[in-house]
Amino acid sequence: MKVLYVCAELYPFLKTGGLADVSAGLTPALRALGCDVRVLMPGFPALMSVVTERHAVARLPGDETPWGPAPVLPMADVVRTELPGLAVPVYLLDAPALFDRPGNPYLGPDGRDWSDNALRFGALGWAAACLGQGLDPDWTPDVIHGHDWHAGLAPAYVQAWSDAGEATPATLTTIHNLAYQGLFTATSLRALGLPASCFDVDGLEYFGQVSFLKAALRYSDRLTTVSPTYAREITQPEQGCGLDGLLRERAHVLSGILNGVDYAIWSPENDAFLTTPYDGATLDNKAVAKAALQASLGLEVSAKALVFGVVSRLTEQKGLHLLPEVLADLVHRGGQLALLGQGDAVLEQAFIQAKALYPGQVGVQIGYDEATAHAVMAGADVILVPSAFEPCGLTQLYGLRYGTLPLVRGVGGLADTVADCSLENLDDGSATGFVFDELSAQGLSSALRRAFVLFARPAEWAQVQQQGMTLRFDWQSAAQKYLALYQALRPSASAGPHNLPNKE
Ligand code: ADP
Ligand code: GLC
Repeated sequence: MKVLYVCAELYPFLKTGGLADVSAGLTPALRALGCDVRVLMPGFPALMSVVTERHAVARLPGDETPWGPAPVLPMADVVRTELPGLAVPVYLLDAPALFDRPGNPYLGPDGRDWSDNALRFGALGWAAACLGQGLDPDWTPDVIHGHDWHAGLAPAYVQAWSDAGEATPATLTTIHNLAYQGLFTATSLRALGLPASCFDVDGLEYFGQVSFLKAALRYSDRLTTVSPTYAREITQPEQGCGLDGLLRERAHVLSGILNGVDYAIWSPENDAFLTTPYDGATLDNKAVAKAALQASLGLEVSAKALVFGVVSRLTEQKGLHLLPEVLADLVHRGGQLALLGQGDAVLEQAFIQAKALYPGQVGVQIGYDEATAHAVMAGADVILVPSAFEPCGLTQLYGLRYGTLPLVRGVGGLADTVADCSLENLDDGSATGFVFDELSAQGLSSALRRAFVLFARPAEWAQVQQQGMTLRFDWQSAAQKYLALYQALRPSASAGPHNLPNKE
């Protein structure tokens, strides 16, 4: 089974959120199952600067297609290469005019989308589809597996080739976040070299614009998202971001596969960022991580304080606007906040102000920092994820593994992975955290109060920690589910060869 995995982020090279962790975890797990998966990404500087060797594959075709002119792109070459430490072959789209820019893959230094994002990510979809039509004479995928709107045009081009009577690979798209849709003006259609017939309500047109995500939802053979609950939620108006109608129409090909965790990176017993490792049998050592976190974020060092941690993008999605409203109560009850995040300027400012208002009780680090992310995960008592919506969420899964109880809103993947400390769950030993429903300060506050009550009962707290630490959300089982989908799409392609060499 040959699978082209098309994405924009890959840990540890380039990461703005969980998508990078998924790409790094899922692709080796698929390969371990004998699936010949290869990654295709834009040739961002973070990747181009670390490649060990480059094999030229081909320049992207710019001539006629069976349906009309090809996309109008600056020079773009596909190269096959390897990335250090990654046991999966990689294709990069080497197009300096599109990708040789510093910083964030989607935004310019002014914090706004790059104005040519339609062409940048259109080129990614075009490259994927061209590989599907034999651009690399040595390797043609059976399945193109795209992620989010960034790869959204690949299924549209594949469909166009199929409509022209050519044999094409199967297509699968995984939705990591329906809120980001890749919307561009109708005028971009011509430069993207898509058939004019696509620009229709039954195609990729979305209220007069070109929608990359809608292209993926409309033209992919199969759709998945990253948790079973989110797969249901997005077929309803409340979480459907305007695409719920189309998703209801396609519900028969839509399913949820829960993300996994890379436990080589996220385990307290072998966490490279911790000075004192710990596991379920040595939980006392978690106190060392707690004191270190308190000291590093300027919090009063106290084992008695209940430390609430946050590691998050600061966006509306994450529900963190509720937090400033409940901080007075949290601090009054003897709690502390340890927050690492960046994003929305208003939220950043609110947390900086909170730190000034509650010195020693609120610690805030604005920015993106792997080491601090691990320090918060290990040092906090509770990890807060009060999201408005959450396709899967990874930080609550990391929290479970670190004995850091997740306090979450019961939506999407959070609902699927955290069992509330209700009396009956405590009684049967299944409780792993705190779950609330109402997206309001009161809703959050009621869950916070329950956390304080449990914290005052150390034996029960420890029992809940132990339960969470035993759970495993491994990539192997997620990879098996993806492989089953690939096989259903292309029954003639063999799953193997098994025991693939790590690099080719
Ligand atoms: P999302 O992808 O919506 O941001 P996830 O929970 O799926 O949410 O994944 C977030 C990932 O990004 C986690 O690996 C988390 O540790 C990491 N992360 C988020 N914010 C930061 C930050 N400020 N610094 C370091 N890592 C961060
Ligand atoms: C998105 C979602 C998050 C999910 C991640 C990886 O960024 O917001 O919930 O865990 O993708 O799938």
